[in-house]
Amino acid sequence: MRIVSGIQPTGNLHLGNYLGAIRNWVRMQDDNRAGETLFFLADLHAITVHNAPDQLSANTREMAAALLAAGVDPEKAILFNQARVPAHAELAWLLFCTARIGWLNRMTQFKEKSGKNREGASVGLFAYPVLQAADVLLYQATHVPVGEDQKQHLELARDIATKFNTDFTTGLFTLPDPIIPPAAARIMSLRDGSAKMSKSDPSDMARINLSDDDDMIAQKIRKAKTDPEPLPETAAGLEGRPEAKNLVAILAALEELSVDDILQRFAGQGFGAFKPALADRLVATLGPIRARFNALRADPAAIDRVLDAGAARARELAAPTLAKAYEALGLCR
Ligand code: TRP
Repeated sequence: MRIVSGIQPTGNLHLGNYLGAIRNWVRMQDDNRAGETLFFLADLHAITVHNAPDQLSANTREMAAALLAAGVDPEKAILFNQARVPAHAELAWLLFCTARIGWLNRMTQFKEKSGKNREGASVGLFAYPVLQAADVLLYQATHVPVGEDQKQHLELARDIATKFNTDFTTGLFTLPDPIIPPAAARIMSLRDGSAKMSKSDPSDMARINLSDDDDMIAQKIRKAKTDPEPLPETAAGLEGRPEAKNLVAILAALEELSVDDILQRFAGQGFGAFKPALADRLVATLGPIRARFNALRADPAAIDRVLDAGAARARELAAPTLAKAYEALGLCR
């Protein structure tokens, strides 16, 4: 398998990022020792909306630190930031000429992100999925781990690859398959079980940050919104109780058990019993990650060394496919 995935560099990393994407990446890297795994920070995607330059570079290093702290291992996976591998932007241009405006018009994420201000959105935001296609086609990815929300972009990458392969009778590009992790890893706010845990929630109490210390984690769980009912015996009993459901789902995700398994242990008990168990488990999982995260953040040169080496390796892997794409199009180089 050739696994390729990207993540946008955001700051304020939290439990939702860890359980939603980062932890999954570590597993994939470990399971794919026989193949090649590439993970990158999608900084070129980040600039499709305004990002303060200082903040972007800080976020890129912070996300890299979080990935390394969580267990992404440069011996097993190639870790780099997109901007350091010009082939991404180059192949994106070639693919802009294969992708159709009508295809991009159907992308739901563009509609959401541009909202009412479609005319004022950047061309980059519209073209975003084509760069994403370039990201994976460049490396002949066979598998692309993504969240459910990225499935449509992956389908577009397959359409672009198919059209290029047909128009230029090349068979150059491998059609990538998405790997969508089980839905369980959708972590909600601790203050409102119907909203996603988010870095931009104005209340810091709504999320567990990767940088939170043990006391802060315990305090946030103690204060997390719940209801007065005891815990039910099965997952069905959590319907209509979004906050309770979220807390149980977090413990289930941490222990890699089903919600039903967790409820068997706590059925009939209230949150006075459940919350300390959840807090202990969070501290046990996040404590060691936080220690490595803080150590790396204090040593940006160490992060840069990893990203330098990763980018050099990625450039090597990208070169043959990019050269063949130029050639297929009749571009003299
Ligand atoms: N668009 C993805 C997201 O927001 C990030 C991304 C960029 C990506 N390029 C990619 C994911 C290539 C997988 C493959 O989550």
